[in-house]
Amino acid sequence: MAAERAWRPRKAIDRRMSYTLTTPLYYVNDRAHLGSTYTTLACDAIARHRRLRGERVTFITGCDEHGQKIQRTAEAAGLSPQAHCDAVSEGYRELWSRWQISHDRFIRTTDPRHRELVEQFFARVEAAGDVLEGRQQGWYCVACEEFKDDPHEAQDPECSVHRRPLEWRDEVNLFFRLSRYQGQIEDLIRRPGFIAPASRRREVENFVAQGLRDFSISRVDLPWGIPVPGHPGHTFYVWFDALLGYLTALVDPDGPVDLEQVLKRGWPAQLHVIGKDILRFHAVYWPAMLLSAGLPLPERVFGHGFLTREGQKMGKSLGNVLDPVVLLERCGRDAVRWYLLRDIPFGDDGDFQQQRFTDLVNNDLANTIGNLLNRTSSMARKWYDAAVPPAGDAALADHPLAVASLEAAEAVNGALEALDFRAAAEAVLQLAGAANGYLNDRAPWKAMKQPGQEAAVAADLYAVLEASRWLAVLLAPLLPELSGRMLQQLGLEPFASGGPTDAPAGAWPDAQRWGLLRSGSPLPEPEPVMQRLELDSAL
Ligand code: MSP
Repeated sequence: MAAERAWRPRKAIDRRMSYTLTTPLYYVNDRAHLGSTYTTLACDAIARHRRLRGERVTFITGCDEHGQKIQRTAEAAGLSPQAHCDAVSEGYRELWSRWQISHDRFIRTTDPRHRELVEQFFARVEAAGDVLEGRQQGWYCVACEEFKDDPHEAQDPECSVHRRPLEWRDEVNLFFRLSRYQGQIEDLIRRPGFIAPASRRREVENFVAQGLRDFSISRVDLPWGIPVPGHPGHTFYVWFDALLGYLTALVDPDGPVDLEQVLKRGWPAQLHVIGKDILRFHAVYWPAMLLSAGLPLPERVFGHGFLTREGQKMGKSLGNVLDPVVLLERCGRDAVRWYLLRDIPFGDDGDFQQQRFTDLVNNDLANTIGNLLNRTSSMARKWYDAAVPPAGDAALADHPLAVASLEAAEAVNGALEALDFRAAAEAVLQLAGAANGYLNDRAPWKAMKQPGQEAAVAADLYAVLEASRWLAVLLAPLLPELSGRMLQQLGLEPFASGGPTDAPAGAWPDAQRWGLLRSGSPLPEPEPVMQRLELDSAL
């Protein structure tokens, strides 16, 4: 008899509920690095979780392709900026496909439709009286594409992020009247949950409290940008155009470009995930631009931390950059996803340590989760005709592993909703620990040697196999591939790739019911579901 209790979201899910989330649009000055891969993997886990819950997800990623930094990189490579952007953005596309990222949209800011959208948006901002001419003087970091308020040193100032000299700029260009939105932005950033994690709010509050100053949105000496309509010689400042890429991504690819349309196609976004260095752009400039254009604001901006490697900042000069392609080829997707999501509290800085990485993957995934399933299904196959054993009392809702599974599901769902990947992973591990503990206590390999124990052993193996099914189900958003291999090992269908063509909405919450594994259904020949990582040299 299957248990009646099942995990359910507190509110019944509206099947049409839509959830839009974004990664930053990555600069194409260089290939993707571990930082951009980290953001994208985290967003992928969120997107998969929401889809599995039955929501209609629009997961946006893409490339930010204008500006001085990119123009200079292309020149240095002897390429036209467009040829350079085509090559690097294609590299991003390929990388995300190799990582099996489940994005729905990939937007490039050199897309001609983006230019149309920027023009329409600018027309609204100008009509609102928010475009002024002014003189811009100050120190500029080309790598950040940003004016610095407080250059690091008075003489030969350098950028505190890039450690590169700042450039002095003095030009007349167009300004956006940010100062006009002081009150509204103050209200917005006070709104609970708008800036997450809460620890990042203070930094933005301090910036806003100094008084918002108008910021320049055009350049006069930069051909590699979108021309500003009605202002010959001006191109848009790269950040003004880049943020609008989130809207262009939502425009109907087969219809005319129309700003109003995005409101029916997923705007406002529920979540922007970004690195902490670009928080100000997303939590202050972007909402003010949207207010000016009369468009609704995103619900949440989540600023995650920075990754270092063995305690050091990753950089080309130190030669310690972790290449996501090498990582993928040598370690596989499950291992890297697990380590980044399980070990680094999302929002904090994190350090990539190779030893810890291999230890966690081998202990958690290969031993605690993988071996549990393998040895249990081996015993079941040997003693019960290669099939799931009779469940007996183990299918009842008060079985200790039923209770532990339900608790784990509640914790995983709550944690993922709160974007706390670490807590979700811990809840999965807790269930795996409980199932291992149960198996060791009951020691079916001993019990089987005693007469009359067959039914009890069958029930115990059933309970552990069923708990393994729950582990696979709960892992689906975090580690879709391992989840799939585990389900196959149990003779079940995986929850596909997490993409729009996936298992029917509701299949995932429905799978969170104790006792669904059918006694007598065949168990395939076990193969290790997770390979151990044996790295004999530095990554
Ligand atoms: N093009 C802008 C974003 C425009 S969004 C409309 C940009 N691009 S970026 O490619 O330079 O950075 C993309 C993201 O990578 C940022 O969120 C940044 O915080 C993140 N990271 C860069 N280095 C990182 C680490 N070492 N660790 C974690 N994330 C890091 O900014």
